[in-house]
Amino acid sequence: MAKTSQTRTVTLTDNETGQTYEFPVISGSDGPDVIDIRRLYAETGMFTFDPGYTSTGSCESAITFIDGEKGILRHRGYSIEDLAGKSDFMEVCYLLLYGDLPTVKEKEWFQNTITNHTMVHEQLLFLYRGFRRDAHPMAVMVGVVGALSAFYHDSTDINDPQHRVIASHRLIAKIPTIAAMAYKYTIGQPFVYPRNSLSYAENFLRMTFAVPAEDYSISPAVSRAMDRLFILHADHEQNASTSTVRLAGSSGANPFACIAAGISSLWGPAHGGANEAVLNMLHEIGTKDRIPEFIERAKDRDDPFRLMGFGHRVYKNYDPRASVLRESTHEVLDELGVKDEPLLELAMELERIAIEDDYFAERKLFPNVDFYSGIILKAIGFPTSMFTVLFAVARTVGWVAQWKEMIEDPSQRIGRPRQLFVGEKERPFVPVADRK
Ligand code: ACO
Repeated sequence: MAKTSQTRTVTLTDNETGQTYEFPVISGSDGPDVIDIRRLYAETGMFTFDPGYTSTGSCESAITFIDGEKGILRHRGYSIEDLAGKSDFMEVCYLLLYGDLPTVKEKEWFQNTITNHTMVHEQLLFLYRGFRRDAHPMAVMVGVVGALSAFYHDSTDINDPQHRVIASHRLIAKIPTIAAMAYKYTIGQPFVYPRNSLSYAENFLRMTFAVPAEDYSISPAVSRAMDRLFILHADHEQNASTSTVRLAGSSGANPFACIAAGISSLWGPAHGGANEAVLNMLHEIGTKDRIPEFIERAKDRDDPFRLMGFGHRVYKNYDPRASVLRESTHEVLDELGVKDEPLLELAMELERIAIEDDYFAERKLFPNVDFYSGIILKAIGFPTSMFTVLFAVARTVGWVAQWKEMIEDPSQRIGRPRQLFVGEKERPFVPVADRK
């Protein structure tokens, strides 16, 4: 856990008053030290100003470590490359939630527990019917996950450790069922119930693509690809949606409501919505000869167009998840028998041209996890509107683990940032008849 340095402090000097203030430096187990400014306002009467939180550490966490300069991502000490190549999603879920990789017995227990929670309350089916059939599946996800707290009252007491565990397991177990139902609803097909003999990824694929009229066989290549995508998206430190979950949870809100808040935050195109935006962009570009035109647009400050799937707040190097995906895209397409996927060709050429361009090099803009994931998802058969939903399915375990860590942190307080007020000062009220 974090240690306050006995010797190192940072001094702040007010150049108007000459007053100096000392703040302790805290070291974690890896990564940059932080300046502990918790007494800043009490001592100086001033706040920090950090819109977008680019220099702010909001919490202590032992779950995920990122070194953005070096392109490193580790969960509980294990590299994402090792986890994606040697582990499976259920193990990664256990790791994120409980801190260590499971033993054989623990894995069996966890898998059984999750499998036994995959069904949703039958009454929830009626909730779907309230949505328009052409609703975006993310809109349905926000609504249905938020509604879970109305169905599972017996796991919403955040002060009861047993409730926290059950709610965590329920969320991880039910989210694929809810996501698959959101898809089925939008295409007008009957819901498919989960099947306990299948793995997490297989079950999700079956609930999404099977129909009662015929047998559905799951390709091992597809379920492996799905499982790997889930691992790559499982957690990512204090990103926008995770911070949203933590902030919502800091008031004591129940976990189902908090995860619904996280799903809302994830939906935006600057975050999880980017995988959908990448595919739309590749379709818009269409052919390789049009890439330079779009690169110029991305560089033009007056044009809102950005290269989707490029750039990251933390990674100033290749996003390690994108490296894993780039390699596995070819492998997955081969295994799926997809020959010469024009979008992959286009994406690779776009990446090559962008990386060689000074604009992207100077700003350290590299492909992020969303750049290649859409191509794999499309090959598996998902429509673009489901891409962010899949991200939400995978990220639920990360949100839940971070939420649980926060609730169990004795230093946890309600999250309440302050502001730099730039509005009107006090002014007299004028009755409506007298206003000009
Ligand atoms: N295309 C073109 N220019 C870009 C891009 C891009 N994709 N990303 C950043 N830039 C430019 C900015 O215009 C800015 O240029 P300037 O210094 O001349 O003003 C500079 O690079 C820094 O960009 P910021 O927006 O300040 O970086 P920030 O950390 O706030 O944003 C973000 C990060 C939101 C991811 C951004 O890179 C972006 O919008 N990317 C495209 C969307 C995307 O792929 N999102 C997925 C992120 S990963 C995830 O959520 C799983």
